[in-house]
Formats: sequence, C-alpha cells, structure tokens
Amino acid sequence: MGIIPHFLVIPFPVLGHINPITQFSNVLIKHGCKVTFLHTEFSHKRAQISAKDGGSKDHNNINYVTLPDGLDHEDDRSDLVKVLLSMIKTMPSLLPKLIEDINALDSSATTMASVHSLPKLMEDGIIDSDGNTTKKQKIQFSPLMPMMDPTHFAWGSIGKVFFDHLYQQEIQLLNLAEWWLCNTAYDLEPGALSVSPRFLPIGPLMEIDNNNNKSSSFWKEDTTCLEWLDQQQPQSVVYVSFGSLAVMESNQFKELALALDLIDNPFLWVVRPDNKDNYKYPDEFHGRKGKIVVWVSQKKVLNHPAIACFISHCGWNSTIEGVYSGVPFLCWPFFSDQFWDESYICDVWKVGLGLNKDENGFISKEEIRKKVEKLFGDEGIRERSLKLKQVTRNNLAEGGKSKKNLENFVNWAK
Ligand code: UDX
Repeated sequence: MGIIPHFLVIPFPVLGHINPITQFSNVLIKHGCKVTFLHTEFSHKRAQISAKDGGSKDHNNINYVTLPDGLDHEDDRSDLVKVLLSMIKTMPSLLPKLIEDINALDSSATTMASVHSLPKLMEDGIIDSDGNTTKKQKIQFSPLMPMMDPTHFAWGSIGKVFFDHLYQQEIQLLNLAEWWLCNTAYDLEPGALSVSPRFLPIGPLMEIDNNNNKSSSFWKEDTTCLEWLDQQQPQSVVYVSFGSLAVMESNQFKELALALDLIDNPFLWVVRPDNKDNYKYPDEFHGRKGKIVVWVSQKKVLNHPAIACFISHCGWNSTIEGVYSGVPFLCWPFFSDQFWDESYICDVWKVGLGLNKDENGFISKEEIRKKVEKLFGDEGIRERSLKLKQVTRNNLAEGGKSKKNLENFVNWAK
C-alpha cells in the first residue's frame, strides 16, 4: 500500500484565491490524496460551510479547519492590507511546523515569475528596497512575455507593507519549495514558465461540478440566469463581471449602466451587493435588454452558448475561465496582475480588446459601445479565441502537459 499524501492548503481569504485552491483540492482528492483546507474563521462562516469541533468534512471530502485572522468580527475586511497584516501576526504561531509543508500556489506563471525576479530587480536598481520603481521603464522577464509596467506588480498595490513584512518570508518560502504549481497551461505562458524549471503548469483547473450544491461563494448564486440565457440567441449576450474585489467609482458605474442600454445586444451583469453606496443606477437607465444578478456560477455562464463576449476586470481566474470557454474579452483591469492579464489577452493571445480612458481615467459609454460592437464584428478575435480554447483544453486532456504534470506531482508526493 502506498502512502496517502496529506496536503494542507492555505488560500488568502478572498474568492479569487479560495476558488482555485478548492479546485486544486478536488483534483488532489480525485488522485487519492487527503486535503485539509485552512479557512480563516471569518471566511469559513461567510462561505457557510458547517464546522464542528474545529473541523468538518464537506461533501467533497475536503477537511476544513479554521484559525482566527486576528481581527474583531465587526472589523472591515475589505481593507486587504489590514487583513494580511493581522493574519501574519496571528496565524503563524498557531500553525506550528505546518507552513513548511506548503508547496502549492494558486497563481499565473507570470505572477510567479515576477516574485522570482524580485531580488534581481532590486540588484539591478529597477526597484528600491521599499518596492518603489526607480526608473519609469517597462520590464520583460523573458522573450514571449509582454512588456510589463513595474507599478502593476502584485506588491505595487501594498507597496512598503510588502517589503517590510512579507518580502523576506516570501523569497525564503519560494526557495524552500520544490515546485511552484501554476494555475496555467504551458501554451498560455511559455515565456513566464521558462523563468524557472521549478514552475509547474497544472491548469487551468476548471472543474464544473453540476451536482455541487455547496459552494464556497460569499454571495448566493443566482441560478435563474441560466434559464434566462437559454432563451437568448446563440452568441448574443454580453457578460459583465468584475470579480470579487474590484469596486467601481459611482460615476463610472452609472456610465457603464448607460452603455449597456446603448448596446443592441442583451447583457448579463454581475453587480455584487457589497458596494451599495457606489452602485446606484442612473435615472435614465432602463436595463430592459438585460439581467442584473448579484453572483453567478461564472464557469457555467461562460460555457453557455448564448454568451458572446466578456467585459472583465481580467483577474487571473476570470481570464483563464474566459479562455477555457473560447469567449472574446473586453478588458477593464483595475489593479496589479489584471493589467498583465490584459496584455496577454490583447497583445499576446489577441483574443480581446482594451478600453481607452480619457484624461481623467474615465471610460465613456460611447467607448464601451464602440468596443463591444467592434468585438462582435471581429472574426479574427473569435477564431483565435476558439483556437486558444482548444489548445488550452488539450493541456488537460489525456496525454496533455498539465495533466501529466499534475500526475507526476501527485506521484512525487506519494
Ligand atoms: C483576485 C485578484 O483581484 C486578481 O487580480 C487575481 O488574479 C486573483 O485574485 P478577483 O478579483 O476576485 O481575484 O478575480 P478573479 O481572479 O477573476 O476571481 C474571481 C472568481 O470569482 C472567478 O473564479 C469567478 O469564476 C468567480 N465568480 C465571479 C463567480 O463565481 N461568480 C461571479 O458572479 C463572479
């Protein structure tokens, strides 16, 4: 009898990290491994997964355990830096020895490549010891990767905090890891994957479990939208969603609403309920052609034949989900890696278009309408999207690179 490897998985408590780590856990379980999933107490409650005596078995055999994130229950957790600092202070002492066992990360290879290259960027004087960029120059980590603006690095949004509290640990941890698992496929990011032989593409992890009643979402999924999609023409609907974190300015939200009225096609728009103050519809807005929902099963939506294109903030999960479904993008990035993902979509894979902002950083309704119409009329983008979908899926099929890597990884763990 072989040894059953037991994994402890620890996502940062936002859905963009919890979702891929959940999918990764399900794959590990399918391969005969055991998985213990560490939630913060707060996100565990929020995801409404029942917990008894410190741990509970979910329907999918993931064993959930929780630790406090160190904040009070009523503290505002939309401030991710505050959450991060509190977790760093509170959790390690409660996790004796287990941290060393962690060797799975849920990122694109490009994000991994940027962390890997950090010491060299400092050595070359491109960023200083506080993480500030010293020169206004774009960087290319390897050929085949897009030129990247250093202000969009993942640490750019938390700046000094990252360098004061995380940098050393992160580099140490990455050096300890034998493998850096990347939720990507070789064909999507060959350049970034060439940065280190330890980068192992195992994705995109894309399981859609139709029998899965329990979900790790923070908001209740609207299922009526699938019936609504069934009634729409094939490739007619504009799907609009900005992930689980991005918050749009109030006037920009209104402008987007008016743009959706201007577009001839129907739309399905995810408007999360956690930004009620910002998200007020303008009086002139009809919304007759569309459906507005608080949260959906995005993978199911993107796979629906009625979907024509995806107005997206380009979070990595949304990016690979759109690619996996062969849906063209209209890119609307908000922060950090989302700008790089936009570069991949528009400049490397050429499966989408970007939006131009005016001098105040505002995107007009005319610009949105113009670009959606352009996307509908662009056969080249549609063809490339379908081709990329196939190439990406091949990585997960029998004999595909990601599938083999995953099997090799599990065998190595065993
Ligand atoms: C965060 C960061 O913002 C992103 O830049 C980074 O790459 C990953 O972590 P988030 O902003 O939530 O994630 O975006 P994204 O990575 O796209 O993840 C959102 C997830 O929520 C996706 O898996 C998507 O399928 C899911 N989702 C979104 C739903 O299930 N339903 C919805 O209605 C909207």
